[in-house]
Amino acid sequence: KEKLILDVDTGIDDAIGILLAVKSNAFDILGITTVNGNVSLDQATTNTCKILDLLKADHIPVIKGAATPLLREPFFEHRIHGEDGLGGALKEAAVTHPVSDGFAPDFLINSILSFSGEVTLVFTGPLTNLALAVKKCPQITKHVKEVIFMGGVVKGPGNVTPTAEFNSYVDPEAAKIVLHAGFPSITQVGLDVTRKALLTKEHLEFIKDVTLREYISQSTNDYQQKYFGRYGIHACAMHDPLAVGIAINKKIVETEKYFVDIETKSELCDGQLICDFQNRLNKKANLLVSLKVDDHAFFQMFIDILNGHFEE
Ligand code: BDR
Ligand code: CA
Repeated sequence: KEKLILDVDTGIDDAIGILLAVKSNAFDILGITTVNGNVSLDQATTNTCKILDLLKADHIPVIKGAATPLLREPFFEHRIHGEDGLGGALKEAAVTHPVSDGFAPDFLINSILSFSGEVTLVFTGPLTNLALAVKKCPQITKHVKEVIFMGGVVKGPGNVTPTAEFNSYVDPEAAKIVLHAGFPSITQVGLDVTRKALLTKEHLEFIKDVTLREYISQSTNDYQQKYFGRYGIHACAMHDPLAVGIAINKKIVETEKYFVDIETKSELCDGQLICDFQNRLNKKANLLVSLKVDDHAFFQMFIDILNGHFEE
């Protein structure tokens, strides 16, 4: 099985990403690391533990990471994820899953060096933990199998500012470090594709496990209403589950390799990814940019995994 570390700022869609990773049985999950983002570090950690409790996944360590972005103040997204980050689902659930000792960037460094060339890293929040790991131990880049992150948008509008997606907006300095660190393979999964991975009530009807169906339905209910308010459709984007889905099956998206950088010094455009489609800057490509998604295949896999029918 593929060795995986999932780094999350557990809001609604991160939580569903965790469900997918665990239920797929595709991975040996070395740990789930948490980060400030959609909600505070502590809330993201509690939410992660609640999901692992729901899954009875006692064996997966949870390790806390950065409580703030590298240089900026936290910026939470309660509008979408609700006060608690899970859209009000599991509100009363007692948390039994323990939080392991240690600091996420150190856990990343130690795991990567212990299993050289074997570890896949999936990030569904701001890239703060990975940036801290790279700063402390730059040689880890050579030992990672691959990095997949949900963040940015290269062709369309942002979802926080006119140009910036949430994860890259929250910690652009961290994203800049990661983009230029020299990882052998980084796949960017941005709004260009995640906005097309829309979960509807019809999808939920196919999920046979009542606990999981009810959890996802409750957790996404308000999120779907917000989407309806903005876009006129009863659905919500599965940003983070798509990044996990790509770790399970690469064929779900089509990628192209480009040089990509991020704006960190602009009043209006901080957090914007700049993709050099025409190689104007004459720089070596550093990112596999996801440009097309087979959303039908993704949701088929999503439902199969949650129903326990998935085989790689
Ligand atoms: C990203 O921001 C968060 O709100 C979601 O969890 C996802 O990681 C989408 O822009
Ligand atoms: Ca997230």
